[in-house]
Amino acid sequence: MRKKIVAGNWKMNINVNETRTLIAGIHQEIEAFQLQNTRVVISPSHINLSTALALTKESIMEVAAQNMHQAKNGAFTGEVSADMLQSIGVQSVIIGHSERREYFKETDAILAEKVSAVLENGMEAIFCFGELLEDRKSGNHFKVVKSQLQNGLFHLESKDFKNIVLAYEPVWAIGTGETASPEQAQEMHALIRKTLAEKYNQEVADSVSILYGGSVKPANANEIFSKEDVDGGLIGGASLKPADFAAIIKAI
Ligand code: 13P
Repeated sequence: MRKKIVAGNWKMNINVNETRTLIAGIHQEIEAFQLQNTRVVISPSHINLSTALALTKESIMEVAAQNMHQAKNGAFTGEVSADMLQSIGVQSVIIGHSERREYFKETDAILAEKVSAVLENGMEAIFCFGELLEDRKSGNHFKVVKSQLQNGLFHLESKDFKNIVLAYEPVWAIGTGETASPEQAQEMHALIRKTLAEKYNQEVADSVSILYGGSVKPANANEIFSKEDVDGGLIGGASLKPADFAAIIKAI
């Protein structure tokens, strides 16, 4: 049975003291939860990863990085490698978030290299993709999402997918308060799974967790998570509020 996952992407928010406070707050909110087959992931900025790892040692919470460079090492001032992340105990890395694609010009080809570097270092990639508003308006959303999936991941072998989590994040629903309807999310997640089955096999398609991201809040989480092919969420704004993040975890 594939895992349910609720992951909080903290983006470029909160300093180290606030990181400590937020982790304590989430712990307090979720300590009584009886979570089965469910993973809870938080993703602080690089500089706060070690703190977060230390504070979650005894906890159900896992820690993911938000990005990394694709090269092994070298003259890439300001960048962080897979080996650096792995060596401090990071087990997952978010790759291909739309903000990375848009503001940092990360192309499908770069993202494919990043995914490989994550896997080669024994970590898991949380691979994000999703269409722009103009893609959806022009009816190209399925085509765009399919090509992001193919270009970013289809160099992998089927065995690699045990370390891949997918996050469908329609760009028009990120930080906008707009959410894809549960039906729109389900429709896209089903297409993603079908595309995986066609390229690999049904087992791969059935075993990969596909998260939905884009303005998931306590008020809409239940409905979105009730859809068959939605295995959880990648949460932005609401993951910075312990009570909201906990309510979303409860909805899974
Ligand atoms: P919001 O939940 O703030 O819309 O952000 C979603 C997101 O980008 C998660 O990666």
